[in-house]
Amino acid sequence: MQSKRYGVEMKIIVRLLIVLVLFTHTGDTDAARILGIVPTPSISHQVVFQPLWRELSLRGHQVTTITTDPIKDPTLTNLTEIDLHFSYEAWDKIIMKSVLAFNDNPITGILALLEQGLDITDEQLRHASLQSFLKSDQQFDLAIIESVTPAMFAFAEKFQCPFISMVSMDGFTSLYKSMGNPTHPVLFPDAIYPYDENMSFSQRLGSVISTNVMNLIIAYSSFSQDQLVKKYFGENYPSVDDLMGNASMLFVNSDPILHKIRPLVPTVVQIGGGSHLRPPKPLPHDLKEKLDNAENGFIYFSLGSNVKSKDIPMETRTTILETFSELPYTVLWKFEAENLPNKPDNVIISKWLPQQDVLRHPNIKLFITQGGLQSSDETIHIGVPIVGMPFFADQAANTKRMVAKGMGLSVEYTALEKNDFKAKILEELAALVQDQPMTGLERAVWWSEYVIRHKGAAHLRSPLLDIPWYQYLLLDVIAVLLFGFTFSVYILYILVRSLYRLIRRILNDDEKKLK
Ligand SMILES: *[C@@H]1O[C@H](CO)[C@@H](O)[C@H](O)[C@H]1NC(C)=O
Ligand SMILES: *[C@@H]1O[C@H](CO)[C@@H](O)[C@H](O)[C@H]1NC(C)=O
Ligand SMILES: *[C@@H]1O[C@H](CO)[C@@H](O)[C@H](O)[C@H]1NC(C)=O
Repeated sequence: MQSKRYGVEMKIIVRLLIVLVLFTHTGDTDAARILGIVPTPSISHQVVFQPLWRELSLRGHQVTTITTDPIKDPTLTNLTEIDLHFSYEAWDKIIMKSVLAFNDNPITGILALLEQGLDITDEQLRHASLQSFLKSDQQFDLAIIESVTPAMFAFAEKFQCPFISMVSMDGFTSLYKSMGNPTHPVLFPDAIYPYDENMSFSQRLGSVISTNVMNLIIAYSSFSQDQLVKKYFGENYPSVDDLMGNASMLFVNSDPILHKIRPLVPTVVQIGGGSHLRPPKPLPHDLKEKLDNAENGFIYFSLGSNVKSKDIPMETRTTILETFSELPYTVLWKFEAENLPNKPDNVIISKWLPQQDVLRHPNIKLFITQGGLQSSDETIHIGVPIVGMPFFADQAANTKRMVAKGMGLSVEYTALEKNDFKAKILEELAALVQDQPMTGLERAVWWSEYVIRHKGAAHLRSPLLDIPWYQYLLLDVIAVLLFGFTFSVYILYILVRSLYRLIRRILNDDEKKLK
């Protein structure tokens, strides 16, 4: 009897303990303090992160962001935004130069962007709002930092908190490498090269060379990033390469439907597949009326936020205008200036358009797009046929993949009239990309809170980071095997030669004896 009662009490105590442990454990992610840093003055970078800031703050976390595009939603009371919008002025001066240089050679384009981007980072770190933030004694449990400006990783070191590195595109080879994720120049070339799915020999050779050149350029640019860290954070900070190697996770904005299937270590999480898509909103009244009245339907033409239609070469613009004037459709063109000389009557221009809602309008026939990743995701989800007109960065590669998947054509103005796109394939693609256990946003939130709960993710660290490169490439093993093989062949040769000589000598002796 006594022992039975004892058992009941024990059970109650154990249950209480379990409840207590569970409570304090989940308590770890309760109202964490999260710092988000997205310094690139480009809306296509910012829109990928915005839903994450929104969601994390709605989950009760105190989120502070450093961004060029604050969400400015007063209902998000747990979100504090430090506004770096002024950076657009410098960005707008350099971006088109880089876009046009890209046409000659992707590496030149990226180099131009990296070099001039450095001045923008310098200007941002110098700005009073960041200076006073740096001097403040705030504390954070997690930082989520856009990967393209490595100097910003120093914020994680300053606040001594674990951090997640995040990109609004697929990651560069160097980023995957920094996480110890296997890379391969033929299977997974950098997103800036529009190589075919099955690469030819010259493409494979080109990819091996350019991937290595790109890695050198990024190593070189790390050097200038280090200077920025020293200037604004202090002399005794680790190098940006060391900081980067300390990332708990890498979020890449890719998904296995639009992007190539690739093996990923658990610290690399794909959050792509339209995480920035938001529920439909009604179009502005006058725009809605114009699109409703487009009798033959309309074509939406936008080159995105970085490629400015107003700055594309004049011949290209003329060709586009002539083509549009011959079309039976209304054309809605995102054009960044007040006036478009020689504008045909069927063309409507607007400096800014709510793209997702325009794509959802029932009268849309076609989207002529530069093939940026966010636009591509929207196209797949909403199911609009495309004509790709790539300019820059990963746009050509995205367009090529979309064309390969039957979503449309890449640019040939004659193709505009052939409007028989494969609606079935489109529907199928949308169904595939949406059929996942979690959305990209849910994955991003879940893994962010995971890093907060476990104060990093060192236990998931790729073993690739901890072995020397010659061991990964099996150079020592190959050397020993090669030596062993050569040595055996040599011994065999010596043996055979001795045997041969012996036999010859015996035969010779026999012959002599016979004589
Ligand atoms: C703000 O965070 C608190 C907990 O820290 C939470 O209770 C509240 O719902 C959050 N408010 C909003 C608007 O997200
Ligand atoms: C690449 O090669 C594979 C195997 O030969 C083939 O099934 C596939 O269709 C090819 N892809 C393209 C885009 O040609
Ligand atoms: C890496 O992070 C850990 C803890 O998060 C910290 O102690 C260490 O100093 C960091 N190393 C570098 C090179 O930043």
